[in-house]
Amino acid sequence: MKTIIQMLCISTIAFLFACNGVDKNKSSGADGWLNGDESQKLETIAKHLRGFDMAMVETGYRYQELYWAGKDENWEYAAYQAEKIKVAIENGLERRPKRAESAKNFLKVALPEMDSAIASRDTLRFSRAFNALTSNCVACHALEKVSYVTVKTPVERQSPVRK
Ligand code: HEC
Repeated sequence: MKTIIQMLCISTIAFLFACNGVDKNKSSGADGWLNGDESQKLETIAKHLRGFDMAMVETGYRYQELYWAGKDENWEYAAYQAEKIKVAIENGLERRPKRAESAKNFLKVALPEMDSAIASRDTLRFSRAFNALTSNCVACHALEKVSYVTVKTPVERQSPVRK
């Protein structure tokens, strides 16, 4: 009797291991929209995660928030937005490494300068750093042959975040 139970246990474990392998091909997501084997599913997720365009949509939004945060002298919010711009662009470059060279000055010079300006809580310094940042957006767009995406200082506030 004991050996039968032991054998049953072993075969149950073996069965579960076998199932584990099959599970990788099981459809995932609502109504199983994500299907195929593991690598096909990762390809689909990578496709949906998108490339540099989504990093830029996010950057465009945060760039405006950063501007108005500076105008409001809401330095914590400004620091938060500058940090998120860095994360968005770095993640975008991880997905599209060919664009990294063009973003070097933006990440190594313009953004750190913005960080120092925010830390100084000096509005004049913030304005200068913001202009320099804008020039770096424009420069990268030229290098990446998307000059038609012309970035200029925001004029109208859309943000619901106010001080
Ligand atoms: C790598 C250098 C680089 C830097 C730095 C950069 N951009 Fe871009 N930006 C691009 C590229 C490339 C595109 C086009 C993306 C595509 O075609 O996938 C773009 C597109 C955009 C778009 C259009 C997004 C869309 O699809 O609607 C906006 C808005 C934008 N950038 C804003 C900015 C702002 C604001 C800054 C500065 C804070 C900035 N970008 C910095 C390279 C850069």
